[in-house]
Amino acid sequence: MPKHEVKVDPYLNPFAPGAGSRPPELAGRDSILEQARISCGRAVRGKHARSLMLLGLRGTGKTVLLNEIEKIGKEEGLLTSKIESPEDASLARLLVPEMRKVMRSLSVVEASKSLAGRGLRGLRGFASIFRIEVAGFEIGIDPEPGLADSGDLEFDLPDLFVAIGEAAQAAGKGWLLLIDEVQYLSEKDLSALIVSMHRVSQSGLPVLFVGAGLPQVARLAGDAKSYAERLFSYPPVGALDEVSAGRAVRRPIEEEGAAIADSALNEIVVRTQGYPFFLQEWASITWNNVEGPEITLSDVQQTYKEAIVTLDEGFFKVRIDRLTKAEVQFVKAMAASGDGPYPMADIAAAMGRTLSSLGPARASIIKKGMIYSTDHGYLDFTVPLFAEFMRRQGS
Ligand SMILES: Nc1ncnc2c1ncn2[C@@H]1O[C@H](COP(=O)(O)OP(=O)(O)O)[C@@H](O)[C@H]1O
Ligand SMILES: [Mg+2]
Repeated sequence: MPKHEVKVDPYLNPFAPGAGSRPPELAGRDSILEQARISCGRAVRGKHARSLMLLGLRGTGKTVLLNEIEKIGKEEGLLTSKIESPEDASLARLLVPEMRKVMRSLSVVEASKSLAGRGLRGLRGFASIFRIEVAGFEIGIDPEPGLADSGDLEFDLPDLFVAIGEAAQAAGKGWLLLIDEVQYLSEKDLSALIVSMHRVSQSGLPVLFVGAGLPQVARLAGDAKSYAERLFSYPPVGALDEVSAGRAVRRPIEEEGAAIADSALNEIVVRTQGYPFFLQEWASITWNNVEGPEITLSDVQQTYKEAIVTLDEGFFKVRIDRLTKAEVQFVKAMAASGDGPYPMADIAAAMGRTLSSLGPARASIIKKGMIYSTDHGYLDFTVPLFAEFMRRQGS
């Protein structure tokens, strides 16, 4: 099709702003995907395979990567389970239905039938001691005494992981467990998960874990079990570099037969600082507002305001809505003093408060996932460019 006939048609808008939406061009993540593929391939072959914990701020593409890695796992011959940890849900409750599905599919394979059957009986005992109801699970299955039924998650969960691993190994398969929003797991649950992965890893069983969460997860995991540091690899998922950010916007436009001027592309890349969610949002709004066929610098400058309003009312606002008034004051004091990271003492001084009196608010805002404590003990926002957003809101 000759270029001058192409319209930038809203129906053909390729961009995908939204939590977990697959971007039209998954730019800049090849090395993480490659690392995941190698781990999956090694696990299936019975080789030692490193589990991964993807860490990054909100909107950087962690969920998208988890979905992609699940696909890779399937291609490599692993059975997969993906769960998202909501706040205050128990890991056992989230895992029982998933482990049951995996064991059931292994129980129909001749080679793994008896091991999977034993695992299912263990799971049955586990579900009853942790009071987890699964429709129809009680019928026809008796628990296996002594397997996963002590009532202590740090003993019982590893038993089940080993049971799955042994059954999967017998079937020539493996199990890939993916957990999103790991920061919401309780300390106890995170601990049990780490112990379980440690057990299967030491036994050389084909069980692999890929988690995703906010940056504080590295510390939470290390606090829970000191060996967590060596058990996982922690690839950072951050802003895209300039080249990748440019490709993330340009490729999809060209694939629809349209074009974007270098200056326009540069404007988007620079002002979004390469943060994936912002790239998708602004590119999408621009697409819907221009005539085309070429998107110009003035086009993107004109849609900048609308992009900011959309982000402010969606991406940014939903976070702040979860805070109490006192917590909002805390966050405002942070933003007012510039961009992070922020020393706690400065925040207290700006608010005219003592450090200790702010402890509870600090803990609560961290728990809500809005701020985190950096490696150097400073505080920072978990949402990129959040301080700017707060300053736009005025006081
Ligand atoms: N590598 C990438 N290139 C371009 N856009 C991306 C990339 N990764 C994610 N996105 C986009 O970023 C947004 C946020 O992705 P998501 O996985 O929900 O982030 P997170 O889970 O880290 O909050 C989505 O709109 C998605 O399409
Ligand atoms: Mg996510």
